[in-house]
Amino acid sequence: MFKAIIIGCGKIAGYFDSDLDSSVSSHARAYDNVPNIDVVAFIDTDLDKAQKLAKIYNCDSYGNDYISFINKHRPDVVSVCTPDNTHFEIINRMLINKVTPSVIFVEKPICSNSNEFNKIKLLSKRKNVAILINHSRRFNPKYINLKKMIQRNVFGKLIRADVFYYGGWKHNGVHVIDTLLFLFNENLFIRKIYGYMTTQYQNDLTLDVELLFDKNKAKIYLHAFDEKYYQLFDFDFKFEKARLKIENFENRYIFDEKFTNSKMESELIPRRLNLGKKNSSCIQNAINVISRYLKLKKANLIKDYSIDEAKTVMNIIWKGEKYASRFKK
Ligand SMILES: NC(=O)c1ccc[n+]([C@@H]2O[C@H](COP(=O)([O-])OP(=O)(O)OC[C@H]3O[C@@H](n4cnc5c(N)ncnc54)[C@H](O)[C@@H]3O)[C@@H](O)[C@H]2O)c1
Repeated sequence: MFKAIIIGCGKIAGYFDSDLDSSVSSHARAYDNVPNIDVVAFIDTDLDKAQKLAKIYNCDSYGNDYISFINKHRPDVVSVCTPDNTHFEIINRMLINKVTPSVIFVEKPICSNSNEFNKIKLLSKRKNVAILINHSRRFNPKYINLKKMIQRNVFGKLIRADVFYYGGWKHNGVHVIDTLLFLFNENLFIRKIYGYMTTQYQNDLTLDVELLFDKNKAKIYLHAFDEKYYQLFDFDFKFEKARLKIENFENRYIFDEKFTNSKMESELIPRRLNLGKKNSSCIQNAINVISRYLKLKKANLIKDYSIDEAKTVMNIIWKGEKYASRFKK
């Protein structure tokens, strides 16, 4: 049996799941569902939160000092589910510790700047610790199928995409940039930052950004939306032969195909698009990947989620942050 420790016992660690249904939205429930991994300790600076989650998952070990629990339990995998600005310190302390897990599964964004990133990367290679980042759409079978269809050129060339997002360029924009890179597998450049919105996160504005795919030359527009109204996360991809809207956090997929009408004009017509299984949980798929990796230790099982993949994403995030620094003055 492999052992896991969860650091940070808040929403994504455990409380995104409700008692009322069996859907899986948290690390704790996803680990609970795999037969070969046991969560052996829950850690939080707030001891009550650690104790509460430990109780829900029938675990008698909880605390607030992750290093001592790592030394005691020697876990194979550690989930880092703490706020964004704590990720670097926690990963770094784990990597310089004598006892290290085989896998660190960290919530996005992995860290705050390129110095931190390079340090983590170097140490993780030196200590042979696999760092996986929860860029969740990479674990979504529908996006995996969509990527394959884009690769097979089913929809034709991408002409333009419009994306609505909220809650910070670094905090949530990272999901958008990661998804674009994952789906289209092309270099992406920032052309313009033309607006911004403040957020609840320190030093993290939600930016209006124009980007360009290198080869394809498709323009991508990210539109900031204010969370005070509601959370908005939508992709609208306009391809040569079709349009696909993925609305409201993947709750709605709207697909239209191009056709020529009797006046020989091009229009769009609604069509069915089969992207596969309905309610597959991204976090469950992620923990399944980790479970398989721990068993087989084959690097190709985790390469799509690795720190090497994250580098391109984070470089775009930090470039955007640098360009946007003029807004703070
Ligand atoms: N992948 C996704 O789609 C997704 C979704 C939601 C949240 N997240 C990420 O997950 C992380 C946590 O988000 P959340 O919404 O669960 O936050 P949360 O505030 O609900 O939980 C964070 C917990 O970490 C604890 N904590 C803070 N500092 C700590 C430290 N140094 N050591 C141990 N515990 C500490 C807090 O007490 C709190 O209980 C964030 O980085 C967020 O960006 C990712």
